[in-house]
Amino acid sequence: MKNLKNALLLKQLYQLKHLGYRYTSASVFKENEPNLSLPDTLDKLKEQALKCHLCELSKSRTNVVFGEGNPHAQIMFIGEGPGATEDSMGRPFVGRSGELLTKMIENVLLIKREETYIANIVKCRPPGNRVPSPTEAHTCQPFLLKQIELIKPKIIVTLGGTAYHYMTGDETGITKVRGTLHQQNGYTLIPTYHPSFLLRNPSAKKEVFEDLKKVKELMENG
Ligand code: URA
Repeated sequence: MKNLKNALLLKQLYQLKHLGYRYTSASVFKENEPNLSLPDTLDKLKEQALKCHLCELSKSRTNVVFGEGNPHAQIMFIGEGPGATEDSMGRPFVGRSGELLTKMIENVLLIKREETYIANIVKCRPPGNRVPSPTEAHTCQPFLLKQIELIKPKIIVTLGGTAYHYMTGDETGITKVRGTLHQQNGYTLIPTYHPSFLLRNPSAKKEVFEDLKKVKELMENG
């Protein structure tokens, strides 16, 4: 919750600066501390995310892309951030890379996309599809961590280097770590390539196929 607190503090400081303040006292912020605990249901959490203005991305978004799927999913997919199609529809992975992700889920894991839960590191589109900044990713992180806490997936598949990095804190490149298993916070995390990388590099599909085979085995055998 520290990131959320810092982001709110920074926002208040900018507001004061805008009003002409050059100095202020720390006690100003102690008087009216907002309740920073996040709700304990996905619906309420979504409501809160839809109203979020804690980072720059909120200024240019069309829709907040909260995430979607089975609230009791055994498996969660985490991407980087919404693209143009996702931003206009308010749903994750519904553009070209989403079509590929859906095929990967249905043809390799042999389950329906709706049985999984799909979310992103940031819930608003980074303009021009740039990589989210560390501030944006950290500010948005409490929402994702709460989603994970509520859904309690057994397996999390991170899609691409950015999702792996922010979910583990590890900066090792995706080429090196893809397909490796990481036990953390009660789930197994497995990084693989991002579907948009596969659209540009179709020959890497065989590696993702191998990674998803591992996922299937984990789903069946724990
Ligand atoms: N790429 C992502 O990382 N997430 C989406 O939702 C769509 C494209």
